Amino acid sequence: MPAVLFVCLGNICRSPLAEGALRAAAAREGVDVVVDSAGTGNWHAGDPPDPRARAAARRHGADISGLRARQVRPEDFRRFDYVLALDRQNLADLGAIAPADATAQVGLLMDLVPGREGSSVADPYYGEDSDFDMTWDDVSAAAEALVARLR
Ligand code: 4NP
Repeated sequence: MPAVLFVCLGNICRSPLAEGALRAAAAREGVDVVVDSAGTGNWHAGDPPDPRARAAARRHGADISGLRARQVRPEDFRRFDYVLALDRQNLADLGAIAPADATAQVGLLMDLVPGREGSSVADPYYGEDSDFDMTWDDVSAAAEALVARLR
């Protein structure tokens, strides 16, 4: 079964939404995939997703309230087939964390979406509910593209 890890900064806003969007898309399309998310930072380790992220997921029919934040670790680059960064800074930080024997394909999430290659999913942390809806739209587009590729 393919395994996908989404990585943002805090693992409480964008990557949990990406995890929820991929779980929803995979279930809808009948695709089996292992999904997880992590942060490059550890400030929020053990925390549930931000309440605004949980609310945005709920507005779109997904429940991410059971997720808990963790920091990305070197073995993730061997356990997962794809390690996908939510923004370009996350991708640069992953490059510094990846061990020499990494087997995962490491890339930028929005590279999966035609016309959005090279772009970052904006950090909604200092934004409002509409910014979290925009995050959901971005990660959902990427999740749909990923499911189409995996099936
Ligand atoms: P995320 O958002 O990387 O999408 O989870 C953030 C969450 C927390 C912080 C920054 C971004 N923070 O600075 O605590």
